[in-house]
Amino acid sequence: MPALLEAASTYATGVCQGLDSAPVAVPPRVHPPSELSAAGIGAERALELFADAIAPSLAASAGPRHLGFVTGGATPAAIVGDWLATVFDQNPISRLDSSTALQLERDTVAMLRSLFGLPEQFSGSFVSGATMANFVGLALAREWAGREVGVRVSADGLAALPRITLLSATPHSSSTKALSMLGLGRHLWQAVACLPGREAMDTLALEGLLASRQGLCVVIASAGTVNTGDFDDFEHLARLKKAHSFWLHIDAAFGGFASVSPELRPLLAGWACADSICVDLHKWLNVPYDSGIAFTRHRDLQVDVFSNVATYLGRSADDPEPIHLAPENSHRWRALPAWFSLIAYGSDGYREIVERDCRLARVLGERIQQSEWFDLLAPVKLNIVCFAPRNPDITS
Ligand SMILES: Cc1ncc(COP(=O)(O)O)c(C=O)c1O
Repeated sequence: MPALLEAASTYATGVCQGLDSAPVAVPPRVHPPSELSAAGIGAERALELFADAIAPSLAASAGPRHLGFVTGGATPAAIVGDWLATVFDQNPISRLDSSTALQLERDTVAMLRSLFGLPEQFSGSFVSGATMANFVGLALAREWAGREVGVRVSADGLAALPRITLLSATPHSSSTKALSMLGLGRHLWQAVACLPGREAMDTLALEGLLASRQGLCVVIASAGTVNTGDFDDFEHLARLKKAHSFWLHIDAAFGGFASVSPELRPLLAGWACADSICVDLHKWLNVPYDSGIAFTRHRDLQVDVFSNVATYLGRSADDPEPIHLAPENSHRWRALPAWFSLIAYGSDGYREIVERDCRLARVLGERIQQSEWFDLLAPVKLNIVCFAPRNPDITS
């Protein structure tokens, strides 16, 4: 083991040092398929094979020059935490093994809640990413809708639930995917108008729809749309929540990090009125894939939906374990890389990361506005620069 880990560490150090110059996009390459042998080649040879045959065609997506999608990197502390999560190989589902792993997971949730400035009523659960966090939020919305009409969807199934109205302006595709996974159906989404030239919801139009609709209603709002980084008006949504009964889920996959910066925080004003919130951690927390968090102020509904009833596992009545709060039972100790990074850099470190990122996005946006080849398609609000070639025939 020591020699093997040493070799892996030396190799990984070289990879990290090369990120600044490695290609960020790599043309597709056809590899001969890997084959299962009877005897295996041993871990040292497997490392050599990976380094020679596989790694050269990997994109340097963990490095600072990769600007595609909303891909985060990994902070040095998060890499250490991720390695150690593998070494310790904990399964923090209950207190039955080491309760310390479970406690660290809870402490990390509390640190994240504090980073995002959310009140203590919000419980949080680690999941694999924003898609699963949206799934959790909408599963709770479905359970809430059932309770409103005296039905327990988690016990009796969907058939007993009257049709829900689901309103949203620009939901991320993972939310409509979640509707499909939840048996509610992608077509449940009814579009609310956007503000002119924006991806943000016209909340007056929403108000009209809420006033005219009958029955149960769920609203999906956005804190950072994926195309233009636009935000819905949560203060107006908070006012609407006082006047109308609906479940509010906010997809804050990356926009939730606006909370770390006094200059950006106003974009989230009022967001704590949400019933459920999704935040991705493998984006702006810069922990390695895969990691996200589902927040909700309705832990009782979480227990209804996700409770895993088995005599050999048990359940704490007043402090349910993670296995009873999220889709996964056994899961990686995802909290450890997040814990390392939060402890290492603190909220000031994250403020610096987010503000620098947004500053660079603004500079790029200004340069695009001055360019004769490109058009800026939306103002740069956060870290997304949405632009297109002025001449659509230009492909390179
Ligand atoms: C706003 C938003 N929500 C959800 C997702 C889905 O995230 P993931 O692929 O991490 O599940 C993304 C991904 O880009 C996103 O930008």
